[in-house]
Amino acid sequence: MALGTYETILVEKENGITWLKFNRPEKRNCMSPQLCYDMVDALTELATDDETQILVLTGEGEAFTAGMDLRLFFRDLDDKPVERARARAADRSWNWYQLSKFPKPTIAMVNGYCFGGGFIPLCACDFAIADEDATFGLSEVNWGILPGGLVSKVVTMTMNYRKSMYYAMTGDPFDGKTAEEIGLVTYSVPGDKLREETIKLAENLMKKAPAVLQMTKETIRNCATMSVDESYEYIMAKQEQLRWRDTENTRERGMQDFLDDKKYRPGLTAVERAK
Ligand code: ACO
Repeated sequence: MALGTYETILVEKENGITWLKFNRPEKRNCMSPQLCYDMVDALTELATDDETQILVLTGEGEAFTAGMDLRLFFRDLDDKPVERARARAADRSWNWYQLSKFPKPTIAMVNGYCFGGGFIPLCACDFAIADEDATFGLSEVNWGILPGGLVSKVVTMTMNYRKSMYYAMTGDPFDGKTAEEIGLVTYSVPGDKLREETIKLAENLMKKAPAVLQMTKETIRNCATMSVDESYEYIMAKQEQLRWRDTENTRERGMQDFLDDKKYRPGLTAVERAK
């Protein structure tokens, strides 16, 4: 399927930023099997799309996502084991594996409701910027289900442990400011500044060499679950890999600019990208 013509999502590209949007606003962007299939296809294409330098995941209308579609993803599939297995495989693929390993920087722009299963793609993104009035909730307890898929895992990997337990067991909603305080999002901003602040972060990231960013995110993500010794070996190997993957030669140019030409203070600002 061609980019931009999906049934349940929208893909918009502008100045290096690709806006990937949940597009079921009348259902508060809850995630149906079709939405998962669409996301698998879109992320597969965007991973190697040259126009996509930064990926922003957000929602049309007043929600980021109201979580899994309780009718289409759960109840309707209860007695359809093959379709359920297919939907679950697509769900796992896009919302964690494809998104957390996406080769370019990813930003979740949380513009409104974010519930339940929505925490997985939220935590899979490298950054999350929330409207300070957005509403978050681990509401599963209210439905008699667990924070499933990978929700229980990614929440405790991302945010404060005591607050993970509190919000999972009470199901109490919380706002964007609280999400920032407990480490669930990178920062929260007033709603009328949300898009502007997201673009500002994206533009900052676009000043840096793509290969350096990709290796950095892989290193930070993977070291989080490795021992110290494994991390050391991994980082050294990654550093070697970066020397030949960074075709812009940022390391050499940074040293030249700083040590020889006295042009830059790389401690304070990015080395200019190679033309
Ligand atoms: N699954 C299925 N349908 C949903 C979901 C959902 N998660 N969320 C919203 N909808 C549907 C509603 O049924 C309604 O459909 P209808 O127009 O056919 O009646 C439509 O979206 C609009 O929802 P409203 O409740 O009318 O919208 P409102 O703005 O008043 O409230 C809110 C929005 C707070 C998000 C509310 O819909 C809600 O509580 N949804 C459930 C959120 C939730 O707990 N999600 C976690 C599910 S568990 C999981 O993800 C594993």
